[in-house]
Amino acid sequence: METTRLSVTEKPVDTLASDLLVYFAAQRKDMPPVCDPKIEARVKKAHELGDFSGKMDEELMYYPDGNPKEKKSESRRVLVLGMGKDDPDKDLADFLDTLRRLGGNTAKACEKTKAKTLLVCVPHMAQIPVEKISQALAEGILLGDYRFAKYKKTTRKKTDYEGLTEIKFFSDTSVKAVRKGAKMGVNAAKAACAARDMANEPGNGWTPKQFADYAADLAKTHGLTCTCLKKKDMEKLDMGGILGVNQGSSTPPCMVALEYNPGKKSDTLLLVGKGITFDTGGISIKPAAGMEEMKYDMCGGAAVLATMAAVAEEKPGIRVVAIVPATDNMSGSRAIHPGDIIHHYNGVTSEIVNTDAEGRMILADALAWGIKTYAPDCVVDIATLTGAVIIGLGHHYSGLVSNSDALSERLLAAGKEAGEPVWRLPLNKDYEKQIESKVADIKNVGGKPGGTITAAAYLSKFVDKTPWAHLDIAGTAWDFTEKSYIPKGPSGIGVRTFISLIRSWKKWEKHE
Ligand code: BES
Ligand code: ZN
Ligand code: ZN
Repeated sequence: METTRLSVTEKPVDTLASDLLVYFAAQRKDMPPVCDPKIEARVKKAHELGDFSGKMDEELMYYPDGNPKEKKSESRRVLVLGMGKDDPDKDLADFLDTLRRLGGNTAKACEKTKAKTLLVCVPHMAQIPVEKISQALAEGILLGDYRFAKYKKTTRKKTDYEGLTEIKFFSDTSVKAVRKGAKMGVNAAKAACAARDMANEPGNGWTPKQFADYAADLAKTHGLTCTCLKKKDMEKLDMGGILGVNQGSSTPPCMVALEYNPGKKSDTLLLVGKGITFDTGGISIKPAAGMEEMKYDMCGGAAVLATMAAVAEEKPGIRVVAIVPATDNMSGSRAIHPGDIIHHYNGVTSEIVNTDAEGRMILADALAWGIKTYAPDCVVDIATLTGAVIIGLGHHYSGLVSNSDALSERLLAAGKEAGEPVWRLPLNKDYEKQIESKVADIKNVGGKPGGTITAAAYLSKFVDKTPWAHLDIAGTAWDFTEKSYIPKGPSGIGVRTFISLIRSWKKWEKHE
């Protein structure tokens, strides 16, 4: 829930009131699970009876007030969650994902019991610093507690669960580190949930204006700089890509830019997100079945703006700029025709063979304009760009295409740490050849083979020599591998990867 508070305490858990108290227990071979000494006897008993072994996703629930012999706990329910085995083959990213899943399992248990206040005993794990444990747990709980009920009006019951209002983390060691980690987890999860909220809005609830308003609000609250190019500005700047896509629409487009500046000399990272608020395909219209999902075609834009919410909160040492080219793709009477030729911002002309390949058209202008205006050291774009990426990678990896090994390495690592895996695809002259046009500099489709790569080849014409990476999230922005902390519907993908990328920026500088 947007307003959920998370605090950290050293006070003994049985002196604290909550609707649900959660402990974690690690599985061992032929032995009772490892757990907090306070619940050891219970867990041992359950293990002897064969009811609980500490396997991942296993649960043991009891009601402490019901046992007069036991030290009275102020919590109404106690839940022990299995953590699984301490597998030596696991790396840090695996452990973090396990913790996020445990957080998600915790949130699911809260929903089941309608618990509003939650108390969590932060587990010890020898392999990872407690700060990371608390960060991943907090992230998992808040991501798992996500719901979107804004439009459920008359069917909503008073008794419907509305999510957690208060979370307390108990730790008897390194409270400072637990607090720091929890805060980082909260920032990342809240940002990802903000992106999910934007994506869940229907096409008539989230238009280019909403992107502009969201950015302006963030700028006002946190002292960031917001610029919004209107249609007239785009005409002056010759942004034929976004204007061409918007031609068939009665809703004006917008190019939103939001800048965070640390106030000292630093690298600049530019993030560009596709903000198609609804994609009908235009004149090359999409089939009716499933078209409603195209309200999610703005998930890239949502990811970059939501990232800025965490950036504003954490104030990193690098300059970060987010740009969202925003419009819908409609087929009104003035709509762009297949065969039309447009001029992009950087002067490149393009033959529009298929009006459904609109993402690259708006990103092209945004990339070229963003690079000219902000002179970034690196640029990353993120977009629900091609159906082809779903054929290649399914719903488990986002596609990455880049002109820079160093930037790719950073993104691969950030995605891994965030539990948002990324797979790099190649790009070379052979793919670029597929988008050569007979009548213009390039054309906007390169045929079926390698569709994700030829879309990226198009974008590569607008980044010049700037280190650039493109993330195709068409398979992961929604229907992403389901886990306890990844719900059905929009996943908020990209946000936590970007946050991890930004947090670790300085660390990489030392290596390169
Ligand atoms: N928004 C779509 C891509 C998409 C497809 C996202 C399925 C999520 C799920 C994009 O604008 C599009 O329509 N791309 C076309 C490109 C083609 C015409 C070259 C596609 O992938 O079919
Ligand atoms: Zn399209
Ligand atoms: Zn699209």
